[in-house]
Amino acid sequence: MRKKIVAGNWKMNTTVAEGVELAKAVAAGSAKVPADVKLIIAPPFTHLVPVAEAIKGTAIGLSAQNCADKEKGAYTGEVAADMLVSAGCQYTILGHSERRQYYGETDAKLVEKVKLAIANGLSPIFCVGENLEEREAGRHFDVVTEQVKNVLYTLSAEDMAKVIIAYEPVWAIGTGKTATAEQAQEIHACIRKVIAEKFGALSEEITILYGGSCKPSNAKELFACPDIDGGLIGGAALKADDFIAIALSY
Ligand code: 13P
Repeated sequence: MRKKIVAGNWKMNTTVAEGVELAKAVAAGSAKVPADVKLIIAPPFTHLVPVAEAIKGTAIGLSAQNCADKEKGAYTGEVAADMLVSAGCQYTILGHSERRQYYGETDAKLVEKVKLAIANGLSPIFCVGENLEEREAGRHFDVVTEQVKNVLYTLSAEDMAKVIIAYEPVWAIGTGKTATAEQAQEIHACIRKVIAEKFGALSEEITILYGGSCKPSNAKELFACPDIDGGLIGGAALKADDFIAIALSY
């Protein structure tokens, strides 16, 4: 049985005080969520320590939104994987399209990041997804396949088992335009096949999340798809009620 996950990517939103309040509200709502659905929240770096405290004693996982591609040292402005662990994280998002697009993250950098995250005990939530132009040109399967191969094929099976994949079509992020359940399912199935080509039956164990304008009104249909194992939620994760409602859609 694959793990079902609903993860909230808060992106660059909330002050520390607002973030702690949001985390507490998610913690209060999490009591209603069935035990087989894992909740994860990914606040900004500055919030990690107090948010870890706010969700202590709950089953909610804590994730960062990024980590450095270097272990430590003179890399001003960067945050290393072992720092995230020491702040209370068990996960980190890596390769989000906003990082690829606005901060020039390449597959080569992501290989380093994914490896360092895993070496330090974090599970990466590794994001892939095509942009609008690529989708319109019918290249979405190829783009996503390349992103998966370029980074995840460099891992051992043991390390691959720790990875969570998130498919986030760039054209659906923050646009209110969700991929249809059919569009999402066919890419998820493709990703699982690409993982199977290298890692065999392990592919059946890998959680693949959908992200992109996922909300309470469309989560049920998406989560009902055989290869969709949950969601990576942006905007709707900033409201505890909506985030919990999405988790209750399973
Ligand atoms: P939205 O849910 O706001 O579209 O964001 C999705 C996302 O990028 C999550 O990482």
